[in-house]
Formats: sequence, structure tokens, C-alpha cells
Amino acid sequence: MAVEKSDIAVQIEQEHECLKRDMGDIKEDMMQDVTADNFRNWRLEFMWRLRDFKNHLSKHFDVEEEGGFMNEILTEAPEALNQVKKLEAEHTHVLAALDEILDDLKVMEVKDLPNVADIRNRVSGVISTIRAHEAAENDLIQTVYCQEYGYPAS
Ligand SMILES: [Fe+2]
Ligand SMILES: [Fe+2]
Repeated sequence: MAVEKSDIAVQIEQEHECLKRDMGDIKEDMMQDVTADNFRNWRLEFMWRLRDFKNHLSKHFDVEEEGGFMNEILTEAPEALNQVKKLEAEHTHVLAALDEILDDLKVMEVKDLPNVADIRNRVSGVISTIRAHEAAENDLIQTVYCQEYGYPAS
């Protein structure tokens, strides 16, 4: 029997779209030209954007973990257990990486301007991880909820 995509799965896919927009904005802010003159303003605004993003992301992870999405997936596809465990571990890893970046940004001074490149690399790394993570979840949702419609490989 075909499994209907649940409200929570739809909500999660919508949040993924929202987070994608957040990440686009972060990249844009991050790549601004940073000079000794605008460093302090840039740093504060970028930190706030990252903090807002981290908060948004934490709530999204709450929905996935506490909102029953992970359990729902496992009920429909128990064979996905390892994949779900890996996704949950990534939540912790991603939030910790963002915290570390925020801690480092917080103590940066104008003299640390050369370290902006390192911050950019680390933020890009986290964004790549999140993109791959969300894509894997979207695939999982498609597999679990749409498998019965079967688009056979041609
Ligand atoms: Fe997730
Ligand atoms: Fe997600």
C-alpha cells in the first residue's frame, strides 16, 4: 500500500528550503570584502546571522528528533536505522562546529584579519555538510513515502 507523505515530512521538506535560503544569505555575507575599517561591523553582523541560523537549525533538528520524524521513518523503513543514526550524529556535529566558529569569531580582532579566510573555509565546510545532510533526508523521505509509486529505472 502506498504510504502518504505525512504532515511532518512535508514540514521538514519546507524547512529544508528555508534553511537553503539562510545558507545562501550566509555565503553572501561571508564573502563580503572585509577590511580593517569594516571588520568590526562585519564580524558582529556575521556572528548574529550565524547565531540566528544556528537557532533555526537547532529547532529544525528538534522537529526531526523530537517531533517523531525519525521514528516515523523507522516505522516505515526499519532498514534505515543506521542511516537515521548517522543523521542524528551529524546534528550534534554540525551544531558543535557552528559553536566553535562563533567562539572564534567572538574573540577576533582587527589584527586577526588574515584568519577570516580560515573562518570562511570552515563555514563553507559546515554548509556543505548540511546541504548533503538535508539532501540525504529528502532522499529518505522520497524513498519511504514514494516507493510504492515506483519509477522503475529504465
Ligand atoms: Fe537532520
Ligand atoms: Fe533536516
